[in-house]
Amino acid sequence: MSVLVIIPTYNESGSLPGIVQRLRSAVPDAHVLVADDNSPDGTGALADEMAAADDHIAVLHRPGKAGLGAAYLAGFAWGLSRGYDVLVEMDADGSHRPEDLPRLLSALDAGADVALGSRWVPGGSVVNWPTSRKVLSRGGSLYTRIALGIPTRDATGGFRAYRADVLRALELDTVTSNGYCFQIDLLWRALQRGFTVVEVPITFVEREIGSSKMHRGIVIEALTKVGEWGAIERTRQLRTGGRRLRQRWARA
Ligand code: GDD
Ligand code: MN
Repeated sequence: MSVLVIIPTYNESGSLPGIVQRLRSAVPDAHVLVADDNSPDGTGALADEMAAADDHIAVLHRPGKAGLGAAYLAGFAWGLSRGYDVLVEMDADGSHRPEDLPRLLSALDAGADVALGSRWVPGGSVVNWPTSRKVLSRGGSLYTRIALGIPTRDATGGFRAYRADVLRALELDTVTSNGYCFQIDLLWRALQRGFTVVEVPITFVEREIGSSKMHRGIVIEALTKVGEWGAIERTRQLRTGGRRLRQRWARA
């Protein structure tokens, strides 16, 4: 199973070397792709230095800040065209512990199509988040569950492993979500197509260096888009006599 871990970056020079080093020791066979949006702090050049010294590291330079979703779509296209079997999403700031990645990959080995690192299942947790962020994250996932009628506890989490075949089936060329809503979008697409999504408990550790790129527009995009998808799904259910999606979901 060849694995590509995609790490999107915007001004993460303080965190990137440490996180990549931890990743290289935790899963030595995995390849790493840094998808940098021309960070003003020089993250891209730093990633180039790391890539020059390690044949398991590559860098995708993007012209400017275009959102998490766009960076991942470019990274997926890069990885799919090179034939990787599994594509992983991971933050650069240390919030996702590379040491947890083997458990995500084991869930795929055990039959999952998508392994979702989850803060909000038993065994999962968040370290050092203010109450406001916890409320926003749990509230966002609850809203998503109700709007779409899905069981997923952590719908916005960004530490995930996808089978390449799943990504190929998701019609990624029609994805327009840019912010953290991108995570909900891909989850929803996978569930709609009957793929098995497994939530694997993880510990999310708030970053110690740099700052979050979360802003109000990201929240508004998610509220609006998820509301629209929910309306479309409810209409579909009405038209088909109330038939709900057959969803394949489990906890690891
Ligand atoms: N290339 C690129 N372009 N990378 C970006 C951009 C962008 O426009 N915006 C954010 N990133 C990168 C950051 O550099 C970091 O590596 C990762 O995406 C996550 O960004 P953070 O700003 O640290 O996110 P957070 O900690 O506030 O958000 C957490 O919660 C979100 C909502 O639950 C993470 O768990 C996210 O994965 C999650 O979606
Ligand atoms: Mn973060």
